[in-house]
Amino acid sequence: MSAPTNDSIGTTVPGMDAASSSEVISVMQERLSALLDLQLTLKHVHWNVVGVNFIAVHEMLDPQVDAVRAMSDAVAERIATLGGEPLGTPGSITKVRSWDDYELNRAPTVRHLSALDAVYSGMITDHRAAIARFGDLDPISEDLFIGHTAQLELFQWFVRAHLQDADGDVVFRNTESN
Ligand SMILES: [Fe+2]
Repeated sequence: MSAPTNDSIGTTVPGMDAASSSEVISVMQERLSALLDLQLTLKHVHWNVVGVNFIAVHEMLDPQVDAVRAMSDAVAERIATLGGEPLGTPGSITKVRSWDDYELNRAPTVRHLSALDAVYSGMITDHRAAIARFGDLDPISEDLFIGHTAQLELFQWFVRAHLQDADGDVVFRNTESN
């Protein structure tokens, strides 16, 4: 018995047309660039944060780096699965991105956490928009991003929890943050 032929192998997955795949890949490439940017930014904060609760913040960030790195791997491989070319070079990140580079270097914990809060707000907002786009096109990619967004929202809560004093008031928050 000969193996079944499938003209779409090497292009996209069964049941998806080329136009839908192309749209999903385009959205995912932008999100892949954002995830690659985020994992670098989280390490940058890990290295540059100083001051109150230093060790708590410093050590909180490495598991977030690992998780975001795993997300970028899964998104890149989903792009490849759909027949696309996942772009992961530094040049591709800067070419795609529409957001400003992280602006703090060595700075106190509360300032870094406020800036990170704003970074996570942008990530989560754009991931939710991607989920909405995928809804009509590809439930598998939608499912992948729902799981990732839940993790990102958890990490934002970890960050925000450091920004409250004993009375529950917010200590400091970047003006661009939600
Ligand atoms: Fe380290």
